[in-house]
Amino acid sequence: MNSITILQPDDWHAHLRDGAALKRTVPDLARQFARAICMPNLVPPVKTVAEAEAYRARIMQHVPEGIAFDPRMVLYFTDQTSPDEVAKIKASEFVNAIKLYPAGATTNSDNGVSDISKVYAVIEQLEEHQVPLLLHGEVTHQHVDIFDREKRFLDEVLAPLLQRFPKLKMVLEHITTADAAEFVLAQNERVAATITPQHLLFNRNHMLVGGVKPHFYCLPILKRQSHQEKLIEVATSGNPKFFLGTDSAPHSKNAKENACGCAGCYSAPMAIELYAQAFDQAGKLDRLEGFASHFGADFYGLPRNTQTITLVKEDQQIPDAYDYLENESIIPLYAGQTIHWRKV
Ligand code: NCD
Ligand code: ZN
Repeated sequence: MNSITILQPDDWHAHLRDGAALKRTVPDLARQFARAICMPNLVPPVKTVAEAEAYRARIMQHVPEGIAFDPRMVLYFTDQTSPDEVAKIKASEFVNAIKLYPAGATTNSDNGVSDISKVYAVIEQLEEHQVPLLLHGEVTHQHVDIFDREKRFLDEVLAPLLQRFPKLKMVLEHITTADAAEFVLAQNERVAATITPQHLLFNRNHMLVGGVKPHFYCLPILKRQSHQEKLIEVATSGNPKFFLGTDSAPHSKNAKENACGCAGCYSAPMAIELYAQAFDQAGKLDRLEGFASHFGADFYGLPRNTQTITLVKEDQQIPDAYDYLENESIIPLYAGQTIHWRKV
């Protein structure tokens, strides 16, 4: 296959930041996707429907002329989130879910939930209204190895949570392990997962062999190759539980190439091409449309897009860097490398 036409894809997990960053991040994402779930880990976080709607208006100011882009919003779950906010999400035209970061798990997660048992009153409402709970699935205890944090979350937090709330609608975001893939497969249809391009295309060797490559560093961290292989298998399986979420997470070059570098890969400008490459390498290009354009919309109860995009098998080099903020730059995922697909 040298060309493929699919319904316009959506990104069910992306970070756009705020303020001057939007000038870079919004056009990059809007040129790739019809809709995106815009993550709420701003400083301070997006905690209420009113704040989410105001953030959406700021994003909309940067959508390029002639492009239709529909940002879907998410609230940031804190220990103080009111159970009443859930009905407001359900009633909102723009807000689709709530995101739980265990406190301290990742970039800007200090205001996250400190102990899930403290927020059961909110989770009851989520189950009742069938509002999706989006999870950053890692435990944060100091003594737990960073490569084991996702698996420990499944055993210690998620399994008991689903036992208590069996009808909860939930997305395990950016899964990185075979354990998470198998966990999701074993649950009912209300439990789904997103998968990033970096976890399909790379493993921890890409990040660590021959020198530390900070632009492959994201959370949850890249795992060993056998996990990568399982993620490719489920993403390309046609199972609607697994859908596209880039986790594109912009940080400036200086913040990444640093003695204490930030976590996050900036994939937005080439995301669909990177996914096409991963599916093509697996010989499963025919499964890309379901993963990228059908299953996420179906899960969120939103209509599928109606326009199409075409990808052609044609080499292109990912730029070394893009302008970002004032006097800064941003290095995209797989910068300077050649990929074999191009969106026309
Ligand atoms: C994300 C960010 O930078 O906001 N970083 C990342 O490594 N994925 C946060 C997140 O989704 O964990
Ligand atoms: Zn993220």
